[in-house]
Amino acid sequence: MRTTLVNMMLSMEDKLISIKNSPNTKTFLSMHILKKVGAFSLIALFVYLSLLMLLITLQYIPLDLDAAFLATKQHVIKYQYYQIAFFAHVYSSIFILLLGSLQFIENIRNTYPLIHRSFGITYVFGIICISAPAGFVMGLHGNGGFIAQTSFCILSILWFYYTVRSFLAIKKGHITEHKNYMILSYALTLSALTLRLHKYILAHTVEMHRLDIYRLVSWSGWVINLGIAYAIIYRKKISKLNEHFMI
Ligand code: HEM
Repeated sequence: MRTTLVNMMLSMEDKLISIKNSPNTKTFLSMHILKKVGAFSLIALFVYLSLLMLLITLQYIPLDLDAAFLATKQHVIKYQYYQIAFFAHVYSSIFILLLGSLQFIENIRNTYPLIHRSFGITYVFGIICISAPAGFVMGLHGNGGFIAQTSFCILSILWFYYTVRSFLAIKKGHITEHKNYMILSYALTLSALTLRLHKYILAHTVEMHRLDIYRLVSWSGWVINLGIAYAIIYRKKISKLNEHFMI
């Protein structure tokens, strides 16, 4: 009896060792670790770029018509409507960036639904009443001429559209639709970070005129994000379908 038990335990141990050493388990484990490292790096990059964005925003406090980037806008900053659009956009957008990021934390969503709801309402109304219309007005006067101006105006319209669709979806109780439109809306919110990241990378790697870089990143800054957002939504749909057929 004792020897059978010992033999059983030894064979189980052998099996465990062989599972641990099997190429499938090793690939699975390394994929898992790679995913964790990837997610951590992305979060660290997001935090770093958001802090830089906060520093950029702080340059405009106290209100000063010559501050930082406004040096390039002297031909329009004299108009009151541009001043209102500029400061409304800059002061509101930093909160939108922060609030939007918190909405994706599952723990907050499940444990504090009231916080999720009030942050969500502030995010939505911040975009549709202040930041997107202001971004559109600024887009009409964007640096980089027609190419960049068209990009900024389309970006503000899409930002407004996806955010409104997400809000209307949750009003009707359509959770998946709400989530998908929020992914699209926040992908565009992140364009504030990706545009500046692309600009920095290009300025330090390719020989291009400063304004040509600006024209290029005015598009790449949000089009790539939107592509990634659609890919995420598509993958979620496929894995839901797989789950459905496996049951
Ligand atoms: C996604 C929709 C957005 C649109 C359509 C948009 C549009 C614009 C436009 C057109 C300008 C002026 C560019 C120029 O004249 O060349 C601008 C500047 C600015 N935007 Fe946005 N923006 C968006 C998102 C954001 C977000 C999420 C933030 C903050 C986190 C932000 C912060 C700023 C700041 C600080 C400036 C002043 C320029 C600088 O100092 O770098 N924007 N935006």
